[in-house]
Amino acid sequence: MKGVILAGGLGSRLFPLTKITNKHLLPVYDKPMIYYPIRTLADAGIDDILIVTGGNSAGDFLRLLGNGKEFGLKAINYTYQEGEGGIAAALELARHYADNEKIIVMLGDNIIQGSIRKAVEDFEKQPKGAKIFLKEVPDPERFGVPIIEGNRIVAIEEKPKKPRSSYAVIGIYMYDSKVFDIIETLTPSGRGEMEITDVNNAYIKNNMMTYEIIEGWWTDAGTFESLFNATCLVEEMRKSQR
Ligand code: G1P
Repeated sequence: MKGVILAGGLGSRLFPLTKITNKHLLPVYDKPMIYYPIRTLADAGIDDILIVTGGNSAGDFLRLLGNGKEFGLKAINYTYQEGEGGIAAALELARHYADNEKIIVMLGDNIIQGSIRKAVEDFEKQPKGAKIFLKEVPDPERFGVPIIEGNRIVAIEEKPKKPRSSYAVIGIYMYDSKVFDIIETLTPSGRGEMEITDVNNAYIKNNMMTYEIIEGWWTDAGTFESLFNATCLVEEMRKSQR
């Protein structure tokens, strides 16, 4: 399975840190942010990755990551998203690269402690559809929030004022090749973006979504608080590894 890391956007919630520098190049403890999702995918056995960048300092990704050898990748590819169309619009740029195969998509500002190797292997065996990851959080209103009935997700609400569960849909998604046909049918949301939540809801509606609750910590790093928190979590992890 090929991997896609979405590392575009203007990072407006981190202004002025992102006035010059792309969010995903900012430091999280001792590494640039983008190192973490690359490492997560590489450790799960994904060795061919497309980086979708955009906004500022796009050329710096090439200088930083080169041919991906440092991560043990077989291939690293790059493309550029013009403007700010949202996560699903960025993913659309991966259509040609995916070439009708399944893909795993990770948001470039998501960092997890544990491994997703087992879930990736499970999805390789899943005949079709999609698979997402959930994590219980204290502030679900910041994220995509699943409505769960029994052990089935019946819908996901994007940043709901009144969350219907205490879970967040984290920024790692696995899709079959139908994902690009779904993206074509989407219209922009209230915030003017093509939402990944709408993609996931299309799979849920067709009964084609599985999920897993991840172990270990998870954080995004797209706000000052979460960027700081990410640095603290990684620092603790490094200390415990010494
Ligand atoms: C995006 C998704 C949201 C998801 C989150 C994970 O939010 O829209 O559903 O829970 O990533 O980081 P955004 O980064 O646009 O706030």
